[in-house]
Amino acid sequence: MSFENIILEKTGRLARVVINRPDKLNALNIKTVLELIEAFTELKGDAETAVVILEGAGGKSFAAGADIAELARQGLLNGKEFSERGHRLCNLIENLGKPVIASIGGFALGGGCEIAMACTLRIASEKAKLGQPEINLGTIPGYGGTQRMARLIPRGVAMELVLTGRVLKAEEALSLGLVNRVVPHEELDRAVREMAEMLLAKPPFALKANMEAVLHGSEVSFEEGCRLETNLFAITCGTEDMKEGMQAFLEKREAKFTGK
Ligand code: COA
Repeated sequence: MSFENIILEKTGRLARVVINRPDKLNALNIKTVLELIEAFTELKGDAETAVVILEGAGGKSFAAGADIAELARQGLLNGKEFSERGHRLCNLIENLGKPVIASIGGFALGGGCEIAMACTLRIASEKAKLGQPEINLGTIPGYGGTQRMARLIPRGVAMELVLTGRVLKAEEALSLGLVNRVVPHEELDRAVREMAEMLLAKPPFALKANMEAVLHGSEVSFEEGCRLETNLFAITCGTEDMKEGMQAFLEKREAKFTGK
């Protein structure tokens, strides 16, 4: 699979996707979004891949948003397509069924912040800057930002951020829960890799079940969420990995999960 604006690398069970337009701070033009959809579709169907890292090339930016040169050309009808395409990508990432770790080494603005919020976990460097500055361009987030941000951080703060376009530094993003962890810039790759290694050692179906329960359970009533949890819990009870996890504990040894 060859791409122009992204890089897709697989090393064993770990995949790495890099948004690769560093001269434009990894701004998301339509081709890049389509390539990301193609790459994540491939990774979703790839039985070997268990964890994905998503990052931006160049060390200065995760992604500085939708490509404003293209955005400026949108009208009523293609504007709708533009937004739907972004939703398709973010929904695909969020529902990949395997953890996607956003490695945020710089700007995660507009669509960049929206894609980061669709990832399962976000690890940022001290240089990261996150926000939804669309208001300053006369528009609003179109890749799910108004919805995901209001679910990820307090709604009143999300409201302030989309109305003012204020960009958060890493530490403030951490204090709000917008990112999971902040590390020194030069340690970002190592911190992301450590998190990936930790997740690679976990039983994949239980990871998937946890993600589904947290994501979808919080969108329905508490009772329905608990029912979803019960069903997912019961399915884990039928896996070999659950038997292995319990057996390993009882035998005082490390569990060796096989994904079955
Ligand atoms: N769309 C298109 N091009 C973008 C871009 C975007 N979202 N963000 C950055 N770029 C381009 C710049 O136009 C510039 O290209 P050029 O060298 O051909 O002129 C290049 O990336 C570098 O950006 P520059 O603005 O010179 O870097 P900076 O360090 O001075 O500022 C930002 C960085 C992120 C503050 C600034 O680029 C910015 O505000 N970008 C737009 C952010 C935004 O509003 N995103 C939401 C879009 S909906």
